[in-house]
Amino acid sequence: MKKKLVSLLTVTAMTFSMLVGCGSEGSAETTQPATTDTQTTQTTETTDTAQTAEQPAATSDFADKKVGVCIYQFSDNFMTLFRNEMENYLISQGFSKENITIVDGANDQATQTNQIQNFITQGVDVLVINPVNSSSAATITDLVVDAGIPLVYINREPDADEEARWADNNWNVTYVGCDARQSGTYQGEIIVDLGQDKVDLNGDGKIQYIMIEGDPENVDAQYRTEFSIKALEDAGWTVDCLDDEVGNWDQATAQQLVANALSAHPETEVVFCNNDAMALGALQSIDAAGRKVGEDIYLVGVDALSEALEDVIAGTMTGTVFNDHISQSHSAADAAINYIKGDGNDHYIGCDYVKVTSDNAQQILDSLK
Ligand code: GAL
Ligand code: CA
Repeated sequence: MKKKLVSLLTVTAMTFSMLVGCGSEGSAETTQPATTDTQTTQTTETTDTAQTAEQPAATSDFADKKVGVCIYQFSDNFMTLFRNEMENYLISQGFSKENITIVDGANDQATQTNQIQNFITQGVDVLVINPVNSSSAATITDLVVDAGIPLVYINREPDADEEARWADNNWNVTYVGCDARQSGTYQGEIIVDLGQDKVDLNGDGKIQYIMIEGDPENVDAQYRTEFSIKALEDAGWTVDCLDDEVGNWDQATAQQLVANALSAHPETEVVFCNNDAMALGALQSIDAAGRKVGEDIYLVGVDALSEALEDVIAGTMTGTVFNDHISQSHSAADAAINYIKGDGNDHYIGCDYVKVTSDNAQQILDSLK
């Protein structure tokens, strides 16, 4: 069963790589969903709501309220920051630590679905879910809505059809997250801002790059892959994809992939990684290959993990994009609180990414302390 899933993911990954990665030319419209405009508009419209909801709540109301939180995988660096921040914030809003239960889906949808069923049996007041597979969202929503429990999805956005059902049926279901297209665009712009003369190290008029993708089922991975390259093309640059691999958000996997890619393609000028964990793995292989970021290669990630910020400050990473786990986790908790209070929420609660280079990396790092 597990094997089947893995090979299915691999096939999806390969298909996806062919479409979006090294085959990016002319494929942009295939991967651009028809809902782009709607989602962007929703993000803008809901910003105020998200901010208003940041007001501290009356603490005593929530001490006996039960919150169930499902995380797709505890070993994920970014989701660890997210869940810790959310737990602390909920406690600061008056929830009791023993009434906040956070479980590890171990990157297995069947495990997570069981956990959701257990939370339903326990009668939690609200569920916060970071799905293992966004494509299982419809099944998850049906389970949770049938049980009469409000639901806040985080980080892995369900597709537009699924989100439309929440509004159509007036269900207490929402999604909290940032628009991954923006993070991809920022990655590309960080490279473009360096100037083509600097990045085109071999002077052949093209940018030779390798792409290391997160989980290919995840829109964050899809959009970051697509929009980072689109930003170069929009600037009039010609790109040359040397390799496009799936690193599943994981540092050790990315380290191996980049080691192989660099030895097969020493002409690589830019390494794009869909997140910082993988960029940190890429950096280990860049070092091992005797290359120097900023001199004979460029490297970008997403998340602004503290270690990556230190690298941006030191010049060993070109840049990253701050994926604000603080505002996202607070907005998710605030949405849960609104449901508990009976106030309801918009069905999409957005946020903004922040471009990070050596100019502001220290400032971002300080803000996280
Ligand atoms: C992304 C994040 C990745 C990983 C992923 C999990 O937003 O950038 O590092 O945590 O979510 O879905
Ligand atoms: Ca070149």
